[in-house]
Amino acid sequence: MKIVVLAGGLSPERNVSLSSGTKIAEALRGLGHQTALIDMFFGLEDYPGLTGEELYKAPAPERWRKVDRAAPDLEAVRNSRKWDGKGDFGPGVLELCQGADIVFLALHGQCGEDGRVQAAFDLMDIPYTGSGYLGSAVAMDKDMTKKLVKGLVSTPEWSYAEYTERDVDRLTSKTPVPCVVKPVDSGSSIGVAIARDKKELRAALLEGLKFGGRCVLERYVSGREIQVGVLDGKALPAIEIIPKQGFYDYENKYQAGAAEEICPAPISPEAARQVARAAEAVYAALDLGVYSRADFILDESGTAWFLEINTLPGMTPTSLMPQEAAAAGLDYPTLCQHIVDASLR
Ligand code: DAL
Ligand code: MG
Repeated sequence: MKIVVLAGGLSPERNVSLSSGTKIAEALRGLGHQTALIDMFFGLEDYPGLTGEELYKAPAPERWRKVDRAAPDLEAVRNSRKWDGKGDFGPGVLELCQGADIVFLALHGQCGEDGRVQAAFDLMDIPYTGSGYLGSAVAMDKDMTKKLVKGLVSTPEWSYAEYTERDVDRLTSKTPVPCVVKPVDSGSSIGVAIARDKKELRAALLEGLKFGGRCVLERYVSGREIQVGVLDGKALPAIEIIPKQGFYDYENKYQAGAAEEICPAPISPEAARQVARAAEAVYAALDLGVYSRADFILDESGTAWFLEINTLPGMTPTSLMPQEAAAAGLDYPTLCQHIVDASLR
């Protein structure tokens, strides 16, 4: 098959996406597919002089390999091509995608995972992997997701705030602590802060302004971090994450060895059933397709609190969904092939 792996883009998770895309493309090539690995933003600029079939063989540009995963410097990326704010599709990207049998979406975060690319591809009749535009859009928005599923699963109480600097003091005084401040539509824990007291809350809200000042303020639930992949509507074995320090933030997610990951999670059969049913219920409620990964906190009383669901879960070397698939007998290339086949059905 001719497969375009689309990665990069301009979300804060750009570097994570480049890492997922590189690994996915490697796996698909290993399976014998003609695979073009493209940064959505730079497009064919990344491969000067190459056209057609040559693009399907070219390795990832040197620039990708230099990416520092701990520091997504979007400004530098935007400036490097004098981004005019109008579009994220680089030169030649759409034409290349139109010529492929399928586009494997290795994008994460806004303008990639949030339904906009999916909707554009629907209009252009370009087949792509994963969920459709509607479920992708809802799942990217933590407030919308929680509103939709709150009668279905346990999710920590929350409020949503769209605010400017002027509102920070008022929000600080009215929001109970401890709480978790999360940009409403970000991923990989970028911009997420646990606020234990009002001082930390104020600082977190000010930080949230850097991510657009649209945040979910969620009651902090202490417990074990459990994640559950869903493939074709069925839960995979759950995984438990035990960060060596702090919570499962950006550093702990992408630095090999920063967290211990145990799959299947050593939780009671009842807890395993609970998270599996909850992950499947959210997947169905949001009308997701092919694959996703739901994140939970399992508290001391045995209640699993749903936090969010990811429609294009990370496929990097340290990501969790591939580990869960492996526990179910699907190695990484088989998982990629399965995602392609299921998306084309
Ligand atoms: N948002 C990251 C890629 C994940 O959920 O794995
Ligand atoms: Mg997420």
